[in-house]
Amino acid sequence: MSDMPRRSTGSGGLSDPRWDEVDEYLALRLLPADDALDAALEASSAAGLPPIQVSPLQGRLLTLVARLTGAREVLEIGTLGGYSTICLARGLAPGGRVVTLERSPHHADVARRNLDRAGLADRVEVVVGAALDTLPTLPSRGYGPFDLVFIDADKPANPLYLRHAIDLARPGAVVVVDNVVRHGTVADADDPHPDVIGNQEMLNLIALSGALEATAVQTVGVKGYDGFLIGIVRG
Ligand code: SAH
Ligand code: DHB
Ligand code: MG
Repeated sequence: MSDMPRRSTGSGGLSDPRWDEVDEYLALRLLPADDALDAALEASSAAGLPPIQVSPLQGRLLTLVARLTGAREVLEIGTLGGYSTICLARGLAPGGRVVTLERSPHHADVARRNLDRAGLADRVEVVVGAALDTLPTLPSRGYGPFDLVFIDADKPANPLYLRHAIDLARPGAVVVVDNVVRHGTVADADDPHPDVIGNQEMLNLIALSGALEATAVQTVGVKGYDGFLIGIVRG
């Protein structure tokens, strides 16, 4: 059927031109012109960073979640060029701050410049290092308990990141995880990709521990077929 989503070459996922068209349609109506985010994308691209940041509409969702949560203390795992970081920081309550963890010193440099240009450098600290090394140092650096955690780094570590997030968050905190569907692979028990296994193990951890009241929403758009998980840390 010609109007059904079809297999694309490349990612192995599904795609349909309407996904991009609808994202564009919605963004034109819902999102303002945004010099800071445009500049961040341009600088990130010029610096050779991969274009895997959240989409503009997804970024707005992060801003809204931060605002809905009344978040003052936000943790992000996986900074890249700071696109999602800007979105999170914009949603902060007065006096709030974001600490964002990034393994690549180059990505962190680009992100700091983007945050500075966005006028948010006073509210954000980029911590360089592998997140599994830097997460345990956050309390002694004066960070936490967190009101909101956004997990968006190396997917095989997602079960471990979720454990840390729950430990470092206050009861009632919101946890958002990007890329939990990945072209539908999450439901494939035979997919050997470490990213897929990471998401499956994270979901099994949620199922077994009951530590989160969570849902996951499948999405399509300029980032293809994917989805995010959102949950509240139980008391
Ligand atoms: N949240 C960003 C995108 C992050 S892409 C946005 O939407 O704008 C994932 C990032 O995680 C990359 O910059 C990568 O360098 C970083 N990363 C990968 N493994 C990591 C690790 N072990 N610790 C910290 N960061 C890591
Ligand atoms: C990709 C997308 C992401 O949002 C991410 O965090 C990592 C990788 C990707 O499309 O490859
Ligand atoms: Mg992502």
